[in-house]
Amino acid sequence: DKVIETHRTGYHFQPPKHWINDPNGPMYFNGLYHLFYQYNPKGSVWGNIVWAHSVSKDLINWEALEPAIEASKPFDIKGCWSGSATILPGNKPFIQYTGIDKDERQLQDFAVPKNLSDPYLREWVKPDQGNPFIDPDPSVNASAFRDPTTAWFVNGEWHTVVGSKKDMLGIAYLYTSKDFKKWVKAKEPLHSVQGTGMWECPDFYPVSQTGDRGLDTSAVDKSVKHVFKVSLDLTRFEYYTIGVYDTDKEKYIPDEGSVDSWAGIRYDYGNFYASKSFFDYKKHRRILWGWANESDGKTRDVNKGWAGIQLIPRKVWLDPNGKQLLQWPVEELETLRSARPVTLSSKVLKQGQNIEVEGITAAQADVEVSFSFQSLDKAEPFDPKWADLPAQDVCHEKGSTVPGGVGPFGLLTLASEKLEELTPVMFRVFKKGDNHVVLFCSDATSSTLTKDDEKSSNLTRDEMMYKPSFAGYVDVDLSKTKKIALRSLIDHSVVESFAEGGKTVISSRVYPTLAVGPKAHLFLFNNGTEEVTVDKLTAWDMAKPVMNVPLEKAS
Ligand code: FRU
Repeated sequence: DKVIETHRTGYHFQPPKHWINDPNGPMYFNGLYHLFYQYNPKGSVWGNIVWAHSVSKDLINWEALEPAIEASKPFDIKGCWSGSATILPGNKPFIQYTGIDKDERQLQDFAVPKNLSDPYLREWVKPDQGNPFIDPDPSVNASAFRDPTTAWFVNGEWHTVVGSKKDMLGIAYLYTSKDFKKWVKAKEPLHSVQGTGMWECPDFYPVSQTGDRGLDTSAVDKSVKHVFKVSLDLTRFEYYTIGVYDTDKEKYIPDEGSVDSWAGIRYDYGNFYASKSFFDYKKHRRILWGWANESDGKTRDVNKGWAGIQLIPRKVWLDPNGKQLLQWPVEELETLRSARPVTLSSKVLKQGQNIEVEGITAAQADVEVSFSFQSLDKAEPFDPKWADLPAQDVCHEKGSTVPGGVGPFGLLTLASEKLEELTPVMFRVFKKGDNHVVLFCSDATSSTLTKDDEKSSNLTRDEMMYKPSFAGYVDVDLSKTKKIALRSLIDHSVVESFAEGGKTVISSRVYPTLAVGPKAHLFLFNNGTEEVTVDKLTAWDMAKPVMNVPLEKAS
């Protein structure tokens, strides 16, 4: 069980070794945060899936417990797949998950704490009585029926949603229960969309129309909006819509203009999948966890002895514009920031100029920067052919080196000294009619010198280093402000970046060969003809939290 440490993260969540995928059943209970996650206890590729379990007081320092749920019963003998936690009245946590039976059918099972007075909830039991609580009826595709959501209570009944499909129709089946024991399938799904394929890990929750406080999943009344999210296994990305939950008709209806398909808005335009949110009773916020899947090839994952991380948990709330969410790393992350950050202010970046941010550990940092410029006159025209393409294609075409008008400017993260390797995180502004379009990119194209020789070895996509030019647009009117903000969480093999206070987020997983540990550098750059001013930059070294140290059993 050798583990190669080089690209392991300093402060992002990961176990000491092996494969991880989806975050499961996150919850706050009696003073502790619990995170469960899909885990292979035997290796660093997907398989043998159990619910690993960690606990934390602050979402940043984690202690590892034994797996909470493992295959053992006829209703989960071939695996314990994703699911959610619900805190029932009387302060009783309850887990709903997907169990795989011997015929590979996907059933919905539950588990409850063995001993509610154990502060860590170490042991979970899966009662024979009542399990599975949902057996797919003949009309349901039993090999595509999984990932139950946190349940909510409305109209005198509990509700939960299970993700599924029929051919290319993505479906969120709705089930209701009066007693949390006997569940009945509703006549109609909560929601379904043609052409999207399997809906993995659906999530459904209310958001307040004012302010940033989160709501309990059952806090459903006329004043709230709802968010519905799915993970699409065909493309391995997620999208969400904002809409209304009609509790009389038991239907979710996305708002007009909220695109409900492949082209919809995303929490994160990078390596981010199978996310799940929960309501944090302690701080009255909704928190979102996402899995950052690998960019490295499978054989290298096996050699490294680990694969997958969880991104930093983010607070999520409705943007005042009502059209999207805002996301920001939980404030507890700031406890890892060094006492004396490096700062820069009022630095002008001329076209072609790079300025190194010196005096920090560039491989393990938290960087906040705000940029401003005098005018948008030099912005390049937005090519109409891009309108129907993903932002990623535009970023790929332009990169960081093709000079522009307003931008590209931003950070060169995880850069080698001579820039043989770098992951630019940057903005580029285009003119589109009377308006402007702001492209935000995290470009892994030049992130590593590792070359996969396709010709000699016929490598499959799984075996190759994935180096996409991840990108999304930022819905902001720069003509008024002429400034834009960026925050990047840089951590050895991950760059997690938030544009303009969390309007657009992109996470890249990258594997530099030179820009490693103390040899990693950070630069500011501008390749646009318009001068850009760094109004303020603050860069912190990040300390290493307690990361999944095993918690000893009380004797
Ligand atoms: C998403 C997913 C879920 C499933 C789990 C299995 O990544 O495929 O749909 O429950 O992973 O590990």
